[in-house]
Amino acid sequence: MLDAELLRRDFPILRQQVNGKPLVYLDNAATTQKPLAVLDASRRYYEEQNANIHRGAHTLARLATEAYEAARRTVADHLKASSPDEIIYTSGCTDSINLVAISLGRSRLIGQGDVILISTLEHHSNIVPWQMLCDLTGATLEIIPCHEDGSLDQNAYASLLEKGPKLVAFNWISNAFGTVNPVVEMTAKAKAAGALVLIDAAQATPHLEIDVQAIGADFLAFSGHKVYAPTGIGALWGKREVLESIPPYRGGGEMIKEVTFAKTTYNDLPFKFEAGTPNIEGTIALGAALDYVNSIGIEAIHDHEDHLIRAAEAALAEIDGIHFYGPSDRAGALSFSIKGIHHYDLGTLLDQMGIAVRTGHHCCQPLMARFGMTGTTRASFALYNTMEDVEALAKATRKAAVMLG
Ligand code: ALA
Repeated sequence: MLDAELLRRDFPILRQQVNGKPLVYLDNAATTQKPLAVLDASRRYYEEQNANIHRGAHTLARLATEAYEAARRTVADHLKASSPDEIIYTSGCTDSINLVAISLGRSRLIGQGDVILISTLEHHSNIVPWQMLCDLTGATLEIIPCHEDGSLDQNAYASLLEKGPKLVAFNWISNAFGTVNPVVEMTAKAKAAGALVLIDAAQATPHLEIDVQAIGADFLAFSGHKVYAPTGIGALWGKREVLESIPPYRGGGEMIKEVTFAKTTYNDLPFKFEAGTPNIEGTIALGAALDYVNSIGIEAIHDHEDHLIRAAEAALAEIDGIHFYGPSDRAGALSFSIKGIHHYDLGTLLDQMGIAVRTGHHCCQPLMARFGMTGTTRASFALYNTMEDVEALAKATRKAAVMLG
């Protein structure tokens, strides 16, 4: 078991008071706080190494390039990718998914009448880029339905695969409900049906061990800021042969081999997809964040958070009219509603008591529509949360329920 009290010392932001109360930060599925190791890495980069990468002959350019590429190796190792060449830096999970959607559109691998399959549990970032691709190509979007408990209907999934989708894209963990999808089984079925598979691992990266080779998908996308790194940096992992088979989605410096006014030839992986000066400091901070997570151990983090989520569910269950969403083995997030109380009112009162949660549709409007609601209240957990945070959440929610009921 990790020592959350000790680890909290690594996160200066958690020391503050909000609305006169100690901050209880339970909005980690939206973004995590940053440890000193990450803040120091960002600062050190600007104080000691700042230069553009892969472009200069001077010492700072070499140092910055080495740090940028070392971070790529850290990401590759973290995902158990077969090569750092399979790691494309992006601005985040949304950007990674857009990269795949736009490149597939340009490749003409997806066309009129083709099927793209996603699930009811998706975040808008794993819906809208596919709708845009459908608009462009004439492909159609099909949706894997979910059960009342917020788990995906695997029988319906098997039937939809009979339509022969060109691409299947789904999240590993639902940001709205914490549902953990069986990614290995779902990927194997999609591959057997001949589809390309993209996994949205935005919510999985902070809670689960990732082994892209064991999963067997073609793409996996994640955001740094969900896993203790800054905003504006993320990555796309792609299988080498698939990345080699699709064209770049943005043109510019660094992604080329040779440019003439008549024609351009593209660079090798991963640079083919990294046009323009990237977020160099972000990549270095991302590497520091993954090192930090690995120094604690992702299993220990998961077990700690699982203990807190179960304790929170048990403590909140005493409230009259409360309903929890997602299956009981959820990860990262606990989403609930209380009969007769609007989630926004509850969230506002909790904030007055120093407790940060997210309320609303969690960028999952189709999922909320499936359940006939406009939103939920969501508490989401990170390695630095404690049983005191859970008790504070339960106490404040009970109080707010009485005030609003
Ligand atoms: N996707 C983020 C969330 O679930 C923003 O809150």
